[in-house]
Amino acid sequence: MKKHRIKQIIASFTENKEITINGWVRTKRGSKNVSFIHLNDGSTIENLQVVADSEKIEESILRDITTGAAICVSGLLQKSEGKNQSVELLAESIIILGKADPDEYPIQAKKHSFEFLREKAHLRMRTSTFGAIFRIRHALSFAVHSYFNQNDFVYFHSPIITGSDCEGAGEMFHVTNFDLQNIPKKEDQFIDYEKDFFSIPTSLTVSGQLEGELGAMAFGSIYTFGPTFRAENSNTSRHLAEFWMIEPEVAFNNIHDNMDLAEEFMKYLIQYALDNCQADLQFLHDRELESEKNLPKEKRNELPLLERLKFVAENEFERLSYTQAIDILKDSKPYKKGQFEYDVEWGIDLQSEHERYLVEKKFKKPVILTDYPKDIKAFYMKLNPDNKTVAAMDVLFPGIGEIIGGSERETDYDSLVNRMTAVGIAPEEMWWYLDSRKFGSAPHAGFGLGFERLMLFVTGMTNIRDVIPFPRTPQNAAF
Ligand code: 4AD
Ligand code: MG
Repeated sequence: MKKHRIKQIIASFTENKEITINGWVRTKRGSKNVSFIHLNDGSTIENLQVVADSEKIEESILRDITTGAAICVSGLLQKSEGKNQSVELLAESIIILGKADPDEYPIQAKKHSFEFLREKAHLRMRTSTFGAIFRIRHALSFAVHSYFNQNDFVYFHSPIITGSDCEGAGEMFHVTNFDLQNIPKKEDQFIDYEKDFFSIPTSLTVSGQLEGELGAMAFGSIYTFGPTFRAENSNTSRHLAEFWMIEPEVAFNNIHDNMDLAEEFMKYLIQYALDNCQADLQFLHDRELESEKNLPKEKRNELPLLERLKFVAENEFERLSYTQAIDILKDSKPYKKGQFEYDVEWGIDLQSEHERYLVEKKFKKPVILTDYPKDIKAFYMKLNPDNKTVAAMDVLFPGIGEIIGGSERETDYDSLVNRMTAVGIAPEEMWWYLDSRKFGSAPHAGFGLGFERLMLFVTGMTNIRDVIPFPRTPQNAAF
């Protein structure tokens, strides 16, 4: 028998059609004679209303139909008289596939806090909010591939286990198969990595960029899209220890092409969500408005979710240099009134309060900052003729701060070796990377988009733990 999904049933309704649907019970209400069951099968945010008449469905079965139970319903599709749904299923038979003891099942048909649901991450996808979020996550992943495929980029699989630290921040998780109670040591008491699985110290990658650059030198345009890992001990609502990153790398592109690509790509992704995730986005839009109802105006979003998305999809991003941004910050009210927690000085790494001032107060739109001081950026960025700044770019988004980091790459062999040495990377260990500057080297540029930061923007969620199914953060790797 053909299995039906609720999404298709609602999209193409045929009166009196006989169907069978499997799903999970969201709610059950009704009287002794007739029960109304809201069934969800994950294909859509919409529930199918099942009408179960006690003349057809046994009392013992009806008793086991509680929130969370998995059931299989066969019956006839009807137009619904109810105001909340257009279609309902008149049950002829119901099979209980899996009960959910109401005394134990934690997800009840009431509002739970996000904090509570984080503890129940194995079940939270069964709520409307998290169902919507993770369907959007799927759609945006698909959109990433669709954009690059349409533009002739090659999906390039960079390794997860690596011997190099791309960002040079030393925030890596080690990979080893040593017995940690008994690590082989050399005579000088240092660890004997030659005895380790790979014979060199290895870690989980923080970025696929370095290998991506090698791919770009063969295919012209590549992108990576995979998990990346950072052992930074930042317990914020914007950081994960395991997050997904999208990293395009394009040969013959300079920093301006790179900005154009980033802007077009972001707009494509947001427009894709608007076009393909309407019901889920509408739900999150309404949910946000509802949750902001009792907040003072300054704590609410200036625009509601759907309008924020449309605004970004339709308006140009602001572009300016780091140096200009510092001038603007020094000239700003919060700076003059001493309201910034961190000082503003040419050379500092911008703090989130500074980024948010530029994006949310000054320009009120996404901002691309370029040409950062070389000392606060990674070794691979192209040195500008001023010898002080590099051809870096950060894309800053309202409510998020940095969503993309990228640059034009240093292609000059000697400058690259100098920068590596200056930041303590041994050039001989990176011989394979340096080879790309020796053989057919060409200008190129790329960037990294943090997928969960994009998810935060598109869903309007405010904690990054709520846009990835099973978040990994300091002291937390449950599930
Ligand atoms: O700015 P980042 O560190 O840049 C790179 O990794 C480059 N190799 C990218 C490239 O040029 N190919 O990271 C890129 C983006 C950030 O802008 C942010 O969106 C996200 O990755 N990101 C994180 N997201 C969640 N949790 C973390 N701990 C993150 N660290 C970075
Ligand atoms: Mg960055």
